[in-house]
Amino acid sequence: MIQPVILSGGSGTRLWPLSTSSCPKQFLSLTSASSMIAETVQRAKGEGYAEPIVVTGTNQIDLLRGALASERFTLLAEPAARNTAPAIALAAQHAVETDGAQLLLVMPSDHLIADLAAFREAIDAGKPLAEDGWLVTFGIEPDRPETGYGYIEAGDGISGRGRAAAAFHEKPDPATAERYLQAGGFYWNAGIFLMRADRYLEELSQHEPAIFRAVAAAYRKGALGAEAYVPEASEFRRSPSQSIDYAVMERTERKAVIPVNMGWSDIGSFEALHAVLPRDERGNVVVGDVVAEDCSDGLFWSTGPLVTAAGLQDLVVVATPEAVAVVPRSRSQDVKLIVERLRADG
Ligand code: GDD
Ligand code: MG
Repeated sequence: MIQPVILSGGSGTRLWPLSTSSCPKQFLSLTSASSMIAETVQRAKGEGYAEPIVVTGTNQIDLLRGALASERFTLLAEPAARNTAPAIALAAQHAVETDGAQLLLVMPSDHLIADLAAFREAIDAGKPLAEDGWLVTFGIEPDRPETGYGYIEAGDGISGRGRAAAAFHEKPDPATAERYLQAGGFYWNAGIFLMRADRYLEELSQHEPAIFRAVAAAYRKGALGAEAYVPEASEFRRSPSQSIDYAVMERTERKAVIPVNMGWSDIGSFEALHAVLPRDERGNVVVGDVVAEDCSDGLFWSTGPLVTAAGLQDLVVVATPEAVAVVPRSRSQDVKLIVERLRADG
């Protein structure tokens, strides 16, 4: 059995004002009628899959229970955000201590995977490797020198589609990313991991013992509340804040990659959202109450007021009842600057 583990964190900066700290991206319905987190649950369901474990902050419990109202799942709630290495350690500890399914399929809650069959085939291909003790990653063919991802350098073939990963580089600088793109043989890390719970804990205790110890102690002293299992707060807070990518994947000797083409996008910006959604004949994505005259290649999205525009090219205009954001499509990443400014100004 595969144990899906869904990570739900995030502070909602990239698609602001659609996503906010009180409603991060995974709770939005962007590419279909259901929320991204509900889609994630559906993706890893059925024969061979256990009920998912969802790991989230205690501050997101209500949102999550609402978004997954029709699903059965186990909720582990972190008393403080410590990034993905401790979040995954909690799920691994839970799997080990409750004697549940031991093969963890760790998934972000806020990604799009258009080709479900390709995803499932990649998981099937990774399963024997993970059972054998490899930490299995899923590699996306890069098409630009993106610096927001991890890069996996594919090495020798292991068996079937699986290749040993010679190296893992989390979020390289632009020059390095460009070099990887030119060199070939590098894949983007999709952020999905398939691995045995005990193997993850073993690697974590070797490379980041402080995280391992804090999470193990917090888990054991934790308590099952009405809504979730909550590890003990003061122990959990002792954990350093680190992602699995830096804590384990860059350091482990036993990492593998399954290259896969599955229509993957992490929808990390309005530009990326524009790229994956249906567009009109002028290249515009139009959602909600919008009138756009003689506009091209834009993204116009309103969940609030009527938005009107004329004669605009390559612009993003997003309106909610609370706020409006306008940026050139190619500078979509800059909504992060707006959010930072707003937070700084209080
Ligand atoms: N429960 C919990 N607690 N979840 C968290 C936490 C946390 O403290 N921090 C992040 N998450 C969740 C996010 O909600 C997301 O679903 C997932 O874990 C990954 O975290 P991100 O913060 O989005 O990571 P990233 O985008 O910077 O980088 C990762 O994903 C890239 C692909 O999108 C890395 O794995 C990269 O290597 C990868 O290329
Ligand atoms: Mg991400």
